[in-house]
Amino acid sequence: MTQIFTDNNCRSDFPVLSRQVHGKPLIYFDSAATTQKPHVVIEREKQYYEQENANIHRAAHFLANEATAFYEDGRKRVAEFINARHPHEIIFTRGTTESINLIAFSFAERFLKKNDEVVISAMEHHANIVPWQMACERKKAHLKVIPMNKRGELQLETLPELLNQKTKIVAITHVSNVLGTVNPVKEIIEKAHLRNIPVLVDGAQAVPHQKVDVQEMDCDFYCFSGHKMYAPMGIGVLYGKEQWLNEIPPYQGGGEMIKKVSFAKTTYNELPYKFEAGTPNVPGVLGLHAAINYMENIGLDNIAKYEKNLCEYAEKQLLALGFVKLIGTAQHKTGVVSFVMDGVHPYDAGTILDHLGVAVRTGHHCAEPVADFFGLTSIIRASFAFYNTKEEIDAFVDALKKVKNMLSPNVS
Ligand code: ALA
Repeated sequence: MTQIFTDNNCRSDFPVLSRQVHGKPLIYFDSAATTQKPHVVIEREKQYYEQENANIHRAAHFLANEATAFYEDGRKRVAEFINARHPHEIIFTRGTTESINLIAFSFAERFLKKNDEVVISAMEHHANIVPWQMACERKKAHLKVIPMNKRGELQLETLPELLNQKTKIVAITHVSNVLGTVNPVKEIIEKAHLRNIPVLVDGAQAVPHQKVDVQEMDCDFYCFSGHKMYAPMGIGVLYGKEQWLNEIPPYQGGGEMIKKVSFAKTTYNELPYKFEAGTPNVPGVLGLHAAINYMENIGLDNIAKYEKNLCEYAEKQLLALGFVKLIGTAQHKTGVVSFVMDGVHPYDAGTILDHLGVAVRTGHHCAEPVADFFGLTSIIRASFAFYNTKEEIDAFVDALKKVKNMLSPNVS
């Protein structure tokens, strides 16, 4: 495993990065959709299925006890990783989407009433819009939106008006998946807390790129996905302050989340099991544990510094082309560079780039209101991880010149 992190010396840890696609070396610029996985993560899941497979918390045999211990170690490791006060404040879910749905359901069941308000922002992706719309519809409450400016920065001067006695919760992204904006979540949380309003932070695009400390941030809920931080798909995290998690009802019913069941009445288990009905994704937790070890071995500060450099380099090279317009020019950005090209439809660009070996995402990026805000139906997004290099960005820029020459040589 990588010991000292210098420019891309970790690439050989990721088997897929040595692949060719359409006969070209793969340039993977779609890490905001999902990151590639290092050997240590793949091997951890393999070892579980080859040597350790057993269900947890429900048998006295050796394998069951061992798997339970590994699973609970994973919970402790996640708690340390984001500096939660207690491991039981970590709930394992399928991913960010399920974590947000859990809170949108359970919090709304307990606290949201007719004519109450939920505040989100103009740069949320669908996973932090639709669950709240569903909750508001169920409870006849209203969704309010913090607006943003053309650089893709939230207009926080609207907060005094938006946060009022009807506001029951604020749900906001830490980093925008389309614009790369790093939101001042701490400031938003402080303002909401002055009115005793809890805040959920969607950290799916933040955790892969920077150190997150939930106590320092003082968020009430924090959600993220394993697969965007080098861990397997299908494992995610909901962090919640103990006080809130104790107050809200379970999301799903089934085995493990109960203390006592009879046909007359069921009582619920304590945290965190109250929110983990059924057999959980044990190998996913072990893979997540391995991914955290891997990231911390490289160093979160090293990752942040390296990726910041890479993004700035990419933006500079793209702007120098003269036919690219950046979408998302906030002062604080991380992870992604989104853009459109003069005279070229993003889908066509994406298809040709793919044939040149470059994997980018095109479309509305599951954040249709963001595309609408910029008057676009589709945007090209290159998203980076610490395994990407400046050489790959140079090759990408050359590929964009080819796309332009093929599709729209005369439009500028
Ligand atoms: N939210 C993920 C993305 O931005 C799926 O690609």
